[in-house]
Amino acid sequence: MRLKTNHLLTIRDLDAEEVQALVRRAAQLKAGRPAGEGATALAGKTVALVFEKPSTRTRVSFEVAAGQLGAQCLFMASRDTQLRRSEPLKDTARVMSRYVDAMVVRTFGHEVVEELAKYSDVPVINALTDRYHPCQVLSDLLTVQEHLGDAVAPVYAWIGDGNNMAHSWLEAAAALKLELNLACPLGFTPDPAIVEYARSKGARVTLGQDPVEAVKGAQVVSTDVWASMGQEDEAERRRRAFAGFTVDETLLQAAHQEAIVLHCLPAHRGEEISEAVLEGPRSVVWDQAENRLHMQKAILEALVGAPAK
Ligand code: CP
Ligand code: NVA
Repeated sequence: MRLKTNHLLTIRDLDAEEVQALVRRAAQLKAGRPAGEGATALAGKTVALVFEKPSTRTRVSFEVAAGQLGAQCLFMASRDTQLRRSEPLKDTARVMSRYVDAMVVRTFGHEVVEELAKYSDVPVINALTDRYHPCQVLSDLLTVQEHLGDAVAPVYAWIGDGNNMAHSWLEAAAALKLELNLACPLGFTPDPAIVEYARSKGARVTLGQDPVEAVKGAQVVSTDVWASMGQEDEAERRRRAFAGFTVDETLLQAAHQEAIVLHCLPAHRGEEISEAVLEGPRSVVWDQAENRLHMQKAILEALVGAPAK
């Protein structure tokens, strides 16, 4: 499968069939790993990871994914590159395009990946910006499908910050017409334009300030840190603002009795999620983390692999 888009900057770049095809392919790659499924899909190619923020899961899963598809991978901390010395993004994009077959980029402003994509001849993949985290939410859809199956259309809840993850969930809801109920403190709600976009595409989205209301009947309860990377100075203010938004066992009593809990990690136990929930029977966070690998492989194959004959 090849995606119609040249770059993956946001889930908005994909249509419903492509999202579903990526989830299906990631599941195939996961099941087929012992038999070497996809082992030559990127043979002879090079994938560069350009990261301006820390990462454990995204970095390792992309590096391992590239290797398992037969590509070589190089990791570039942007502080060690000329980007730090203000080489223009458009120059970096054109130079990198002469060396590598894809760039996976983690950065602050979303306009950075947009600018790189504008000037790059090779696919640019968003590995997290302040605005979106598409690869995470795509792999979360695989985790949901594994645990809940295809038979039901689950009700999704988002509890906490209206951040990059919430934005990507809204765009997944738009692509797949999901029911997504968000509870975020006032002042920390998602961008209204993204909420409106999701609704305009047929997603059923509610947005309020009551976590109990948001999780009612939800089969999938997701949360994320209260202070994202780059917001460390706001951590104390945010802890106060987010009081009452912890995903704990009391809150889960209001959710569907078989609800699963997602957290993209890293987690702050006792803040956005309790220790008991994170380590408890409803938590699927370790499968969720593993699935990053399988989804990165599906994404790389669909953007960088040889076109289907
Ligand atoms: N969930 C996630 O993106 O984790 P990392 O920051 O470790 O990559
Ligand atoms: N919202 C978090 C996600 C980390 C994977 C952040 O941007 O830091």
